[in-house]
Amino acid sequence: MIKFMAANVFKYTKAIVSGIPNSLAATAVRMDGSDEPVNLEKARQQHKNYVQVLTELVGEIHIIPADEQFPDCVFVEDPVVVCGDTALVTSPGHKSRGGETVAMKEAVTKLGLNVVEMTEPGRMDGGDVLFTGREFFVGQSARTNEEGLKQLAAAFPSYPVTGVKVIDSCLHLKSMMSMVVPDNISIGGTSQAAAVAKEIMERDGHFKYNFLSVPDDFGANCLFVNGTVVYVSKEPYPKSFEVFEKLSLPGFSEKIAVNISELHKVDGCLTCCSVLIN
Ligand code: GLY
Repeated sequence: MIKFMAANVFKYTKAIVSGIPNSLAATAVRMDGSDEPVNLEKARQQHKNYVQVLTELVGEIHIIPADEQFPDCVFVEDPVVVCGDTALVTSPGHKSRGGETVAMKEAVTKLGLNVVEMTEPGRMDGGDVLFTGREFFVGQSARTNEEGLKQLAAAFPSYPVTGVKVIDSCLHLKSMMSMVVPDNISIGGTSQAAAVAKEIMERDGHFKYNFLSVPDDFGANCLFVNGTVVYVSKEPYPKSFEVFEKLSLPGFSEKIAVNISELHKVDGCLTCCSVLIN
């Protein structure tokens, strides 16, 4: 079991992203009650900017072409979990997303990663997997089951794995939290997010973390890439934006706000749109 965080754990040299299919606007999976129309042109412009920022941070970007059969395919984080040189190709938990694994398996195989495939009855969306650099927390959501957690633990045996119950009104564990910088986790403002941090992660986790409280759950989702924190823009989360604007934690060299407001409408967050590889 790992005791010290490897120095290169949040250092990335490549990222995988996907194009946005037209089908996203009408048929992407949404949480109940969310029906705001998506402006596809704006979504693609925002996504292009996101990819541009990642390109500057990691250098090499692999683009999986948009596939109209899979409205949610831009959310590449869900069909795979990559840690070190192993890629666990998951069994996504929503039936409309299962086929996304074919293109993802091809992409991670081409990149030379050791590919492990989840098998029945395992279910997992990568959005439920928070890797802290020392251990995994896995959301037990409507998309990820106990068997999925067991298969993740077998794929990455060097790290402890702890399950975290996520209620159905929250899509994924990382729909309310993410790593900001090493040993610091940003946590959304709902009572569920606070309870997960205090009552589960602090109690059951194997290491201690600082929690950064962020007003919005989606606003708490950020990326930490090669020393830079990539966080939500003023639109649509002005209060969360402000928290990151004032961020004074040690451990990062730059920060940049990126607007993906159109993808937020279909429950996407910043981490959902890329797979980072180190
Ligand atoms: N729209 C993202 C998902 O439900 O998987």
